[in-house]
Amino acid sequence: CMTRHYTFNIVQHNVTRLCNTKTIISVNGMFPGPKIVAREGDQVLVNVVNHVTNNVTIHWHGIRQLRSGWADGPAYVTQCPIQTGQSYLYNFTITGQRGTLFWHAHISWLRSTLYGPIIILPRRNESYPFRKPYKEVPVIFGEWWNADPEAVINQALQTGGGPNVSDAYTINGLPGPFYNCSSKHTFKLRVKPGKTYMLRLISAAMNDELFFSIANHTMTIVEADAVYIKPFTTNVLLITPGQTTNVLLETKPYYPNATFLMAARPYFTGQGTFDNSTVAGFLEYEHPSGQSFNKRMKIFKPSLPPVTSTGFVANFTKKFRSLNNPKYTARVPQIVDKRFFFTIGLGSSPCPQNSTCQGPNGTKFAAAINNVSFALPTTAMLQAYFFKNSNGVYKTDFPTYPRSPFNYTGTPPNNTKVSNGTHLVVLRFNTTVELILQDTSILGAESHPLHLHGFNFFVVGEGFGNYDPNKDPRNFNLVDPIERNTIGVPAGGWVAIRFLADNPGVWFMHCHFEVHTSWGLKMAWIVLDGPLTSQKLPPPPPEIPKC
Ligand code: C2O
Repeated sequence: CMTRHYTFNIVQHNVTRLCNTKTIISVNGMFPGPKIVAREGDQVLVNVVNHVTNNVTIHWHGIRQLRSGWADGPAYVTQCPIQTGQSYLYNFTITGQRGTLFWHAHISWLRSTLYGPIIILPRRNESYPFRKPYKEVPVIFGEWWNADPEAVINQALQTGGGPNVSDAYTINGLPGPFYNCSSKHTFKLRVKPGKTYMLRLISAAMNDELFFSIANHTMTIVEADAVYIKPFTTNVLLITPGQTTNVLLETKPYYPNATFLMAARPYFTGQGTFDNSTVAGFLEYEHPSGQSFNKRMKIFKPSLPPVTSTGFVANFTKKFRSLNNPKYTARVPQIVDKRFFFTIGLGSSPCPQNSTCQGPNGTKFAAAINNVSFALPTTAMLQAYFFKNSNGVYKTDFPTYPRSPFNYTGTPPNNTKVSNGTHLVVLRFNTTVELILQDTSILGAESHPLHLHGFNFFVVGEGFGNYDPNKDPRNFNLVDPIERNTIGVPAGGWVAIRFLADNPGVWFMHCHFEVHTSWGLKMAWIVLDGPLTSQKLPPPPPEIPKC
């Protein structure tokens, strides 16, 4: 194993998209940002130096951070932000993970332009449990705003309304030919015939789940959230913000004299396909003569499921199964120590004085778990916990069950008001947790990509309607459930997850739709130290930023 050193200079950078040039915040003047490449077992050191006026933190999304919670990155959860002119050295070791993850800013909406791939290769002398690809290519989905995304969310929070939707979906930062002024901003994948390519798909999108397909080609999914899975083949996939997946793409055995579109569009919003809610890139074959062949060739388009294809999504997510191979697969907890039932959904809170709010009945939009809309403190919770001064920072009384149950998928209750606060759950070291995530129909059923920091969880069950504690557990998969860090809680349905609380620290859990996180769909878990030294969180590095 080795140590990998990186420097991330947070700097301004000018980018032209959709006919406009604007200044964005970037890492090292790159958009999308640089790749982190490491092998399983390597130590990664990233020195993040902030040269801009915004406060910044970086999160290594999906990295387990075993006993290195100080490097996790969410602002006001594990650290105070890195202020202008300051730097912070993120120090973590990659343990038991291989595949693709990504890094992104974790403060306000800065992740709209601050993101990039994390590529975890197998240990030296180890190979993939599938055919070795000829080439590997990161394919990152994102969203682009013409306006400053920070201004967009600040204004939305002030007026209590929704933010405007992004102006484009992007692949590797490029909107593609269906957007104005964008045909030269199109992602192109140039391939040779008869080869296997591995696409490392990453959803850094802000507020939408996306369908993705490549015309006249199938994809074999071999890994999800940096865990190998039982391979399966599909024409279309759904990728949710915060999810990553590796797919194998076999190219045609011959030179096809055609260009194939790869395209992505949202699951829940937008109307058509191949309009300005579709990002497209080109899959192009290199001509055997080596010359670039011009052009007049046929263009094939993929077909994508229509908006709100919940049936497609339910079938698709059921296909994910773990490899169930002890070499790569952790064991799903068979016995549960603690059960939780969390309602996940939208709601409302009072409109601030002198504002006109755009939520239901003139209220302000909010989002909540068990009716609690989480408010981040102004200091880092992990420090408050570690140094035992949590007074006035957070309380440890997050509700295990909804305080007043209702029919979650029926007629919504009249009172949609949420309560606000900073409430956490405390777990003893090595507790096995079962958590039911129930979507609510308040303000419309909507899918929510729930992301847990510090752990992978097993998805043991999923269904539509209200979760039934007497019936549904009988169908749980405790043999080969998928292990991941982000799961779409289905609109009008529920998922059941299990995890082992073997990582001491304070761990954020939230909807990876940035707007829902801003509205309060978030909470945090405290996992206490275990008795052994190897089960304790070490003290923070001395240079950790101060608030
Ligand atoms: Cu990808 Cu808390 O984030």
